[in-house]
Amino acid sequence: MTFSRILGTGSYLPARVMTNADLESVVDTTDAWIRERTGIEKRHLVSEGETCCDLAEAASRRALEAAGLQPSDIDLIVVATTTPDQFFPSTACLLQQRLDIHGCPAFDLQAVCTGFVYAMDVADKYIRCGAAKRALIVGAETFSRLLDWSDRTTCVLFGDGAGAVVLGAADEPGIISSHIHADGAYKDLLQVPGGHGNGRPDEAYVEMRGNEVFRFAVTTLGRIVDETLEANGLSRSDIDWLIPHQANIRIIQAMARKVDLPMERVVVTVQDHGNTSSASIPLAFDVAIRDGRIKRGETLLMEAFGGGFTWGSVLIKY
Ligand code: UT7
Repeated sequence: MTFSRILGTGSYLPARVMTNADLESVVDTTDAWIRERTGIEKRHLVSEGETCCDLAEAASRRALEAAGLQPSDIDLIVVATTTPDQFFPSTACLLQQRLDIHGCPAFDLQAVCTGFVYAMDVADKYIRCGAAKRALIVGAETFSRLLDWSDRTTCVLFGDGAGAVVLGAADEPGIISSHIHADGAYKDLLQVPGGHGNGRPDEAYVEMRGNEVFRFAVTTLGRIVDETLEANGLSRSDIDWLIPHQANIRIIQAMARKVDLPMERVVVTVQDHGNTSSASIPLAFDVAIRDGRIKRGETLLMEAFGGGFTWGSVLIKY
């Protein structure tokens, strides 16, 4: 049997930093409110002219270097993003051109904050069935461009960045299992209502009923943890690291309690990155690999929740 294994990771954050104190002069908010309600202290934002593909390329090159591979070794590119540079070509095709890769399939995948988990699920299946041997999976976002900077209930929450993983075919997992779900019935709770497709391009800003999303996220993520453990006959004590989507420290703490892990065993970057949507898990993953916390052979649980609603998990033997 063929499985997929993590060969390398990389990430990239734009240089510009916006602190909570900076936001106090943008909207009616305080550093204390943002820290207490979300855990966020600062976030990185793209500068004028900097694109989602720029972030994706930098993260991808670092992941390829960590894997000891050349771009030409890649035979599948999947970019999870909500903020593509253009309607088309896809950001994956733009990235493919930057990396001077030719011919392999390249496509974007849109599942908002669950995008990276969806992309891992898809790429793992390509590798398991033999359709790809070395896949580049990227989560990249310029979410700051989707924000209404006069809406204090959303603009304080998000940041920009990218994370990438190179997956390779292997005889043992690797990705043990992945679980993805969606329910469009909740589309109105977290959305960007406008788009060119519906003739409302002027309404292309994030709207969220935060409190309702919060409650649904905690319940649903709790269920996905159970589903993942049950599918593999594992118990909570088998998990070495939780790498959650970084939306809110209070949701992350609730998930740590659910998995019965001390916060030292949870990778938390929300204080430095804010919510970078599909980039948040690969960013956090790369941080904890590069600082030496996550070691080969350990069991990792990734989980995410986002607009749609979408939600999912990936269980990995690193
Ligand atoms: O990544 C995709 C999934 N997204 C999430 O998981 C986000 C889930 N939701 C959340 O993280 C939280 O609901 C928020 C951080 C968005 C909000 O926290 P909350 O504790 O649910 O606050 P709230 O929405 O109930 O608002 C409490 C109060 C309100 O004032 P009143 O009505 O009590 O007077 C808000 O108007 O806080 C006010 N408020 C703010 N105050 C200062 C809302 N935003 C701000 C702000 N600064 N930025």
